[in-house]
Amino acid sequence: MRTATCTLLMSLALCGDAFTAISSVAHDPVAIDLPAPQKTGGKPLMDALSARATSRNFTANEPALPPQQLSNLLWAGFGINRPDGKRTAPTAHNSQNITIHVLLDTGAYTYEPAKNQLRRVIVNGQPVGDIRALGGTQDFARNAPVTLIYVCDAIFHTSAGAIPPLQTSAIHAGAIAQNVSLYCASAGLKGGVRMSIPKEKLAAALGITPNRIILAQSIGQDSPAAPKP
Ligand SMILES: Cc1cc2nc3c(=O)[nH]c(=O)nc-3n(C[C@H](O)[C@H](O)[C@H](O)COP(=O)(O)O)c2cc1C
Repeated sequence: MRTATCTLLMSLALCGDAFTAISSVAHDPVAIDLPAPQKTGGKPLMDALSARATSRNFTANEPALPPQQLSNLLWAGFGINRPDGKRTAPTAHNSQNITIHVLLDTGAYTYEPAKNQLRRVIVNGQPVGDIRALGGTQDFARNAPVTLIYVCDAIFHTSAGAIPPLQTSAIHAGAIAQNVSLYCASAGLKGGVRMSIPKEKLAAALGITPNRIILAQSIGQDSPAAPKP
């Protein structure tokens, strides 16, 4: 589906700041600058909590998320919210050991919060293309315009010994995913988290080991006409 690609790239090209950003990465075609996240507004927290729900209602030709919404939701999920570089979600020992992989129809990217960029995933010297169909074992996954894959970066050690990486990373991913879910509820977006992921195939496509994949989350624009599950 190219609709999402065109919308993202056209929106970036038509937006003044984003156009500057694209020009600035002209020598670095693997990076896409996102618009600065909007850190105010949206539904009040209690309204967002009232609206939060899982939707699997993704059909063919789902509209793309505008770049502004993509930037907002990534910042809400795990952006930098303080001058010391700390993030919107807590992590043990401030390890920040989750990288969000962003699957779009334009390709697979990692979210780089310090630069507010999407950086193309390169495997064996080749940019990774549209692998959204590998973002879930359920059919709807391939249609979601955005799928986030929460990937554990590394085992980390403290003076008390090694922190169980999967247990800790699962907690981290859960906190990030809930931030994203509440942003979605606040902004009128649909989606949900899942663990039904073809980890071996997805990991191979992303050039990582399968045990680093913790959780997936698909997001799309909600349609008032869409049947509620
Ligand atoms: C850790 C976790 C794993 C999940 N895995 C899947 C999944 O693989 N596929 C799916 O369709 N939903 C998955 N879900 C969504 C749950 O089915 C959903 O949250 C639950 O039915 C409650 O519905 P609600 O989110 O609308 O409250 C998962 C949720 C969590 C928290």
